[in-house]
Amino acid sequence: MRLQGKRALITGAARGIGRVFAESYLREGAHVTIGDINLEGAQKTAAEIGCAAVHLDVTSQASIDAAMASMRAGGGIDILINNAAIFTAAPIDEITRNDYDRVFAINVAGTLFTLQAAAKEMIAQGRGGKIINMASQAGRRGESLVAVYCASKAAVISLTQSAGLNLIAHGINVNAIAPGVVDGEHWDGVDAFFAKYEQKPLGQKKKEVGASVPFGRMGTAADLTGMAIFLATPEADYIVAQTYNVDGGNWMS
Ligand SMILES: NC(=O)c1ccc[n+]([C@@H]2O[C@H](COP(=O)([O-])OP(=O)(O)OC[C@H]3O[C@@H](n4cnc5c(N)ncnc54)[C@H](O)[C@@H]3O)[C@@H](O)[C@H]2O)c1
Repeated sequence: MRLQGKRALITGAARGIGRVFAESYLREGAHVTIGDINLEGAQKTAAEIGCAAVHLDVTSQASIDAAMASMRAGGGIDILINNAAIFTAAPIDEITRNDYDRVFAINVAGTLFTLQAAAKEMIAQGRGGKIINMASQAGRRGESLVAVYCASKAAVISLTQSAGLNLIAHGINVNAIAPGVVDGEHWDGVDAFFAKYEQKPLGQKKKEVGASVPFGRMGTAADLTGMAIFLATPEADYIVAQTYNVDGGNWMS
């Protein structure tokens, strides 16, 4: 049990990768709270896997503050996984300001201000902490149809660097994971965007991206849990401001 007694908040964990992270942290002995804008989904997941759930909209400072107050009341916060995010795709001439604002509000401002709130708690607690941001291979380079999401994930990598450098003085490690293509409901949505813009049948893009991964298939959320656990352990104390690719060999940096 590598996270025995640690108190973790995982955002956007009603489903997908966050849910699987929550399950893996529970197996390692952590006390896990799921924070999601979808409270009903978060409560259902929490009941199924045996953890706590709070309503959390990472675009709302009041909501972030309320989630942190709930963590404080429960004994504090040792680990934050900044996992909540949304995807969007469009050619440049079809990007709307609404789409841009929403993606950046969740993926970038949501990541920064949840990180800030957790860091404030961790500094006040005086026992350090671990913050793990979810970046993406999309943040490593642009994609023709995915300008806004790619830019948001590049921002997450940059924020991880700055926050990592700033917070290590308090014993808080900030690092990130950059997955490649991970099968699940998120990628069902991505697939639908490509079906629309590349005139492909539904499911075709998934097959193509899976076949192009050097490992030979799309990732699963379970493929990411080793890194998510490791970065939260004392073994990762000397790792600061890094973003790790866990993507079957898709990207090398
Ligand atoms: N699935 C992939 O292929 C992939 C690849 C690279 C990176 N990622 C990143 O991994 C993370 C998890 O992805 P996933 O595939 O599990 O996505 P997902 O869409 O399945 O889950 C995202 C969760 O975030 C929640 N959410 C949305 N807006 C929110 C808000 N304002 N406040 C709080 N919660 C909110 C949703 O309700 C949902 O439960 C994301 O940061 C994503 O960008 C995913």
